[in-house]
Amino acid sequence: MFWLFVTLAHMTKITTSNKPITSLHKKYCRIIFTEDTRSWHRLVETPEGMLEYRMGTGKWKNINRRVFRTLIRSVVQAAKAHQLERIAVEIDIQAFPQLTEFKSQWAMRTLGENLQLAAYEFTKYKTKDTSSATLKEILVCGDISTADKTAFQTGLVIGESANITRDIANTSAEDMTPSKLVAATKTALKGTKASVRALGSAEIKKSQMGLLEAVGKGAVDKPQFIIIEWWGAGKPTVADKKAGKKKPIALIGKGITYDSGGLNVKPTGSMHEMHMDMSGGSAMIGALRAIATLGLKKNVVAFIPAAENSVSAESMRAGDIATSMSGQTVEILHTDAEGRLVLADAMTYAERHYTPRVILDVATLTGAALSALGQHASAVMTKDKKLQETLMELSENSGDLLWPLPLWDEYKSSLKSSRADISNISTNFSRFGGCIEGGTFLSFFAPKKTPWAHIDMAPRMETIPSDKLAKGAAGEPVRLLVQFVKQYE
Ligand code: BES
Ligand code: MN
Ligand code: ZN
Repeated sequence: MFWLFVTLAHMTKITTSNKPITSLHKKYCRIIFTEDTRSWHRLVETPEGMLEYRMGTGKWKNINRRVFRTLIRSVVQAAKAHQLERIAVEIDIQAFPQLTEFKSQWAMRTLGENLQLAAYEFTKYKTKDTSSATLKEILVCGDISTADKTAFQTGLVIGESANITRDIANTSAEDMTPSKLVAATKTALKGTKASVRALGSAEIKKSQMGLLEAVGKGAVDKPQFIIIEWWGAGKPTVADKKAGKKKPIALIGKGITYDSGGLNVKPTGSMHEMHMDMSGGSAMIGALRAIATLGLKKNVVAFIPAAENSVSAESMRAGDIATSMSGQTVEILHTDAEGRLVLADAMTYAERHYTPRVILDVATLTGAALSALGQHASAVMTKDKKLQETLMELSENSGDLLWPLPLWDEYKSSLKSSRADISNISTNFSRFGGCIEGGTFLSFFAPKKTPWAHIDMAPRMETIPSDKLAKGAAGEPVRLLVQFVKQYE
């Protein structure tokens, strides 16, 4: 299928103006918040001929960070539903007492992020212009300080980057094979000072990433190992490396461009959305794009082990044994537990070639994560209490919600293989605790002394109606990753 990477065609212009909302031109529909919930969603024309959209928000004292984000998104959804072309909003944070402790910069960044996220529509495969594409402009009015404007712009960049993540994840698998994912990464990072390169089949083999190789060998388009480097704090010199200075943060994202399940093929209803099984990887692309665009003074390297888990005579088989880059052998008891395989090699590669100060991996790893948490939060697993605390706070701060599950040694025993060092699923085929099992498998490959956290984002792969976002990829956890890089000391 033919398509172009023109994501900007339907884009809504989002800007600020220091004019008071009351002095605007008639072409803008003014969004007015009222505490009165009975006026929820009411479009009125004022005696002066101005269009006003009144939104009943409920008591302002009840508006916390989560409600605030949803409120912003509802404004955009309302504008789309009423086919309004230009809207203007004015938000006075002081009116929301629960938000004042987070400072106006938090509010302005959050406003920018969520206006962008809500304006997004995925139109790549639509031949007709959809009505929701009519929202042309959002104007944020009021007496906005320079610092607040900067925060708002930052939010716009982060939101826009998350939308790029969504575009990549929403793209069908035939248009986003591993080599096409490499191209999409380069396009997304173009114009920034981040560098993108990819190891192809030969180099993957040479690096002895036997698990990544095994997962992708059944597909026509063979695996790629994508590396995005951002040296915002300066590339470490040999002396820096010896002294352990300027070590990067390592971000690893699962890049399964399609997960058919492999020979343990997925049933109907579980397969068609698996073009989004590279959501962890596309989150890294968006996050690095935002980090580089904002010029964060941090060192970050993102790794995306990209492969298609396909069905063919060359596919890995259940019962096959592959040797990981770490040297440990893995009995592949289930070909559909492929994400953990590619991530394992990526962790070893990151540690050996970059000695990172911390590793985060993000993956649509298990359906069991959805059984555990529903669709409102991703699961986070780490043995590092401080890292967990940091991530939990940033999840509330950013809106990419996380909830912890244990990574106890007790869980390790079920992965002891009789034929190899470990197996990729429980040797008794138990489906209990499947999300923890995924994290536990990865723990065999995590470097011992480097803080590491695993995020199973399968629950947040796609949006749900209460998100008030377009259907499809959610673009998580781009906001969280950017804040993590910004704040990690
Ligand atoms: N990509 C899937 C997990 C997934 C499922 C993500 C639903 C998003 C929505 C993963 O590779 C997978 O197939 N996991 C298996 C693991 C099992 C074989 C141990 C699963 O969840 O069933
Ligand atoms: Mn799978
Ligand atoms: Zn998968």
